[in-house]
Amino acid sequence: MSDSEARVSGKRNGMFLSTAVPFLVGLVVLLGFGWIVFPGLLYEKKEQPVAFSHKTHVQDQGMACTECHFLRKDGSFAGLPDIDSCASCHAAPLGDTEAENLFFADYIEKNKPVPWLVYAKQPDNVFFSHAAHSEEVCGTCHAELAGPALCATCHMDMQNMDTPPVHEQNILTAYSKQTMKMEYCERCHANPGHTDGSTRASNACFVCHK
Ligand code: HEC
Ligand code: HEC
Ligand code: HEC
Ligand code: HEC
Ligand code: HEC
Ligand code: HEC
Repeated sequence: MSDSEARVSGKRNGMFLSTAVPFLVGLVVLLGFGWIVFPGLLYEKKEQPVAFSHKTHVQDQGMACTECHFLRKDGSFAGLPDIDSCASCHAAPLGDTEAENLFFADYIEKNKPVPWLVYAKQPDNVFFSHAAHSEEVCGTCHAELAGPALCATCHMDMQNMDTPPVHEQNILTAYSKQTMKMEYCERCHANPGHTDGSTRASNACFVCHK
């Protein structure tokens, strides 16, 4: 390499250090902000008002899911249990845990409904029915989709949870982060086993948007 060529390449290295390096550092910082920090800021994390344990009630007490979450005769879904159904057992404290004592003092004694947060909550323009996705319907072809296994095809598997998961809500749209995306509903509806005329599954917009 001649002297002048070496000087030119030295200059290039200098330029690289003074422009490309700050650029790359800036890029990494911004990508980190966009991918990691911003999504974190976008979601408000909230604890459930009561530290309810599915494990205590389902595994230890042997309760069935349908004792608390059931379909009414008219096909509507009862959703989350009301305070009276809890009071049928918790009329007086049953144990001596902090979670139960707080639940008793704040809600049972005051006969106040618990403001549960719903992970699966959909926007108002989405129509969903548990009756169309019940054991009676799905079980005719999928024997394995019964009880908690059916619920877990769409929800987090709650049966062994000892504390409720943290609820994450988008601060701009107020939508829950943990709800099912349209793509996932449509993927199951579009399964060839469902669209061959044997089920009513359809991806026409008006089926889910009313
Ligand atoms: C003693 C009543 C009770 C029983 C029995 C029960 N649950 Fe729950 N379930 C609740 C309460 C209260 C909540 C709200 C607090 C929470 O999310 O942990 C809830 C929340 C849920 C949710 C979250 C819904 C959402 O999107 O917010 C799912 C899914 C669920 N239960 C499934 C089940 C399954 C599956 C079973 C049976 C294995 C079951 N539950 C048994 C009371 C019950
Ligand atoms: C079939 C009876 C029964 C029903 C119905 C019931 N529980 Fe319980 N619950 C229990 C028993 C038993 C325990 C365990 C008490 C102990 O030994 O600490 C318990 C414990 C709890 C605790 C303490 C934390 C834990 O899980 O160990 C909370 C909080 C609680 N229940 C809330 C609720 C709520 C909310 C409902 C209504 C959605 C409800 N329970 C319905 C029987 C019941
Ligand atoms: C008339 C029969 C029938 C009914 C009713 C039915 N399915 Fe299916 N389902 C099939 C067939 C056939 C396939 C394709 C073969 C397979 O993958 O098991 C399939 C595939 C699936 C798959 C994909 C399986 C995989 O491994 O990828 C899921 C999940 C599923 N069904 C869930 C449901 C749910 C939930 C319901 C109730 C809302 C339901 N199905 C109702 C027949 C049915
Ligand atoms: C095919 C998917 C799917 C299946 C299967 C399913 N769910 Fe859901 N569930 C949803 C969706 C979607 C919502 C939200 C509905 C809305 O906000 O309009 C929901 C809402 C809920 C809620 C909250 C209800 C409320 O009052 O807001 C509970 C509790 C629940 N489901 C429990 C269950 C249980 C228990 C099972 C099993 C027996 C089950 N789900 C099966 C999709 C499903
Ligand atoms: C795991 C599979 C699966 C998932 C996920 C699923 N569905 Fe379905 N859905 C079905 C099947 C199968 C049927 C047809 C049941 C029948 O034949 O009665 C159906 C039927 C329906 C129907 C009734 C159609 C009618 O004409 O009566 C509506 C509405 C619906 N789904 C909405 C939704 C929405 C909204 C979501 C997402 C939040 C969703 N589904 C997620 C499998 C699924
Ligand atoms: C099987 C049920 C289903 C069908 C069919 C369906 N959607 Fe959706 N759609 C949903 C659900 C669930 C959401 C909310 C969750 C989400 O944003 O992904 C949604 C959200 C949307 C949104 C709002 C998007 C957003 O990010 O807020 C638009 C727009 C939309 N759908 C348009 C359509 C159009 C157009 C069609 C017909 C081509 C259609 N949908 C068919 C279930 C469905």
